[in-house]
Amino acid sequence: MISFCGIELAHPVVNGSGTFDAIAARRAFGDALLDDFPFAAFVSKTVTRAPRQGNPPPRLWELGAGMINSIGLPNKGLAGYLAEDLPQLAELPVPLIVNVMGSSAEDVAALVSAFAEREEVAALELNVSCPNVKTGLLMGADPGETAALLDAVRPLTAKPLVVKLTPNCASPAAVAAAAEAHGADAVSLINTIRGMAMHPRRPGEAWLGGGTGGVSGPAVHAVALAQVREVRERVRIPVVGMGGVATGRQARDMIDAGADLVGVGTASFRDPLAGARIAVELQRLSANSGITGGTPEPAPARIADAR
Ligand SMILES: Cc1cc2nc3c(=O)[nH]c(=O)nc-3n(C[C@H](O)[C@H](O)[C@H](O)COP(=O)(O)O)c2cc1C
Repeated sequence: MISFCGIELAHPVVNGSGTFDAIAARRAFGDALLDDFPFAAFVSKTVTRAPRQGNPPPRLWELGAGMINSIGLPNKGLAGYLAEDLPQLAELPVPLIVNVMGSSAEDVAALVSAFAEREEVAALELNVSCPNVKTGLLMGADPGETAALLDAVRPLTAKPLVVKLTPNCASPAAVAAAAEAHGADAVSLINTIRGMAMHPRRPGEAWLGGGTGGVSGPAVHAVALAQVREVRERVRIPVVGMGGVATGRQARDMIDAGADLVGVGTASFRDPLAGARIAVELQRLSANSGITGGTPEPAPARIADAR
């Protein structure tokens, strides 16, 4: 067992918000999903105050090493989530972290207040990759904006608040430091990196309905490691590291870069049980290196060691 912001978790692997639909997975796999849930906590996809349709299609573009999505956060809105999704997600065998986003501090405050009362919810993740309609600034791209947001919502709940940082800004580490100073309990990163795909047959046109989208998967792993390391050096609160993690080795590297938990996103599209496999691989690697106190096994000889 490990402890994250006072929440007990069986292992350090969680899902990235929006990349694993636990309700659809339960429909597909039945209660077997509950017996063998692939993550130590479940992070739900972003909930907004009002329902959202999301972006026009096409919404996905496959890259050589990952993908670009322009899903646009479609969701039922707060009332729909509370009535339809929350009761189902509360049946999962792991703690529930609800990810919320708003386009003003008041919007986010309404979401935080609503979830503050729900005992099914273990923690809240604030997706700050959204422009503030009042200031025009991306809430998570500017330390002052992030500080103001936390000042507005921190007093509304005793539940842990995790700030999901955006990589699309000058200094995620400066934003992380502002989040910590204004009461965040943890930070998570990276969210997707803004990218674009050109239409294969219409010169000059974007492929994605949203114009640009967010790059994820193996393509962003090295960027994620660098940002996690930079953030770790600036804050003392726990860090959830994600971005292109598909193996135990990559999860280990994320932890070595400074993460306390590891998020798995795009890898779950190829294999819905990727999270469980990565957790087992990570546990074996950690036992081999003596990190979790397991009996160290001799490391297999590597070519590099023999030089
Ligand atoms: C299809 C898709 C949908 C996503 N939806 C959300 C979302 O609703 N909220 C959010 O905070 N992040 C969302 N993300 C970002 C992921 O949670 C994660 O931060 C990012 O994809 C990097 O991890 P990965 O490379 O393992 O996918 C989404 C990513 C993808 C690929």
